[in-house]
Amino acid sequence: MRNPIIAALDVPDAETALKLAAQIAPAVGAFKIGKELFVAAGPDIVRRVRDTGAAVFLDLKFHDIPNTVARAVAAAARLDVQMLTIHTSGGSEMMRAAKKSAQDTAKLPGLQSPLVLGVTVLTSLDNAALGEIGFQPDTARQVERLANLAVKAGLRGLVCSPLEIAALRKILPAAIQLVTPGIRTRLGEASGAAWAGAEKADDQKRTLTPREALQAGANWLVIGRPIYAAENPRAAAEKILELLM
Ligand code: C5P
Repeated sequence: MRNPIIAALDVPDAETALKLAAQIAPAVGAFKIGKELFVAAGPDIVRRVRDTGAAVFLDLKFHDIPNTVARAVAAAARLDVQMLTIHTSGGSEMMRAAKKSAQDTAKLPGLQSPLVLGVTVLTSLDNAALGEIGFQPDTARQVERLANLAVKAGLRGLVCSPLEIAALRKILPAAIQLVTPGIRTRLGEASGAAWAGAEKADDQKRTLTPREALQAGANWLVIGRPIYAAENPRAAAEKILELLM
């Protein structure tokens, strides 16, 4: 089995990110670079993490007119990232443009097409918040609607909350890759281990354990604080991997 852990490098600067990456690399399958680190450290941080041989998930959640998104995806593909995100609510044409751009850019020597992942409904939005912006005030139905649209537009992967995995697996082609944040071991500090304790009182409310998420049908687990905020991030990553075996 390949290692399904994508460790989120949710840290403020390049040096911290590279130090963390070096520490945990043997225990994880890929690294996620999101908005904070990318805005602070620029594309150079992507190159430097890629130079270590690690796979990179560039999580910038593009949402713009199709031409602009296509060009941003091309720039990301030239950085040789393995996964990137776009908002499915940008519409079919935007999603098709993103996919085509990823594939076209991959025709350049030495590049492979990144997996373009669609984000459906942000987990920070509830039914009332969805209704307020004019969407159907039913997050589950809206997620399914956007997921179907994404697949029709040619996307081969989606980001989803742990509690959406099972429902999406029922309606999506089996080949669609599901990438899931909101993973918590729930082992707590009681274990007394150096890797525990980083999960208490954070803002992820609807979580699954790593094993539950894979059993429900996730392909990749995005894990942030349970690893990077642990006293010993390497031990935390190793423990999580062990829980998956
Ligand atoms: O620290 P934690 O494990 O909660 O980190 C999860 C990562 O996944 C963060 O980088 C967060 O931005 C991202 N994410 C999330 N929930 C979503 C989408 C992405 O937590 N719905």
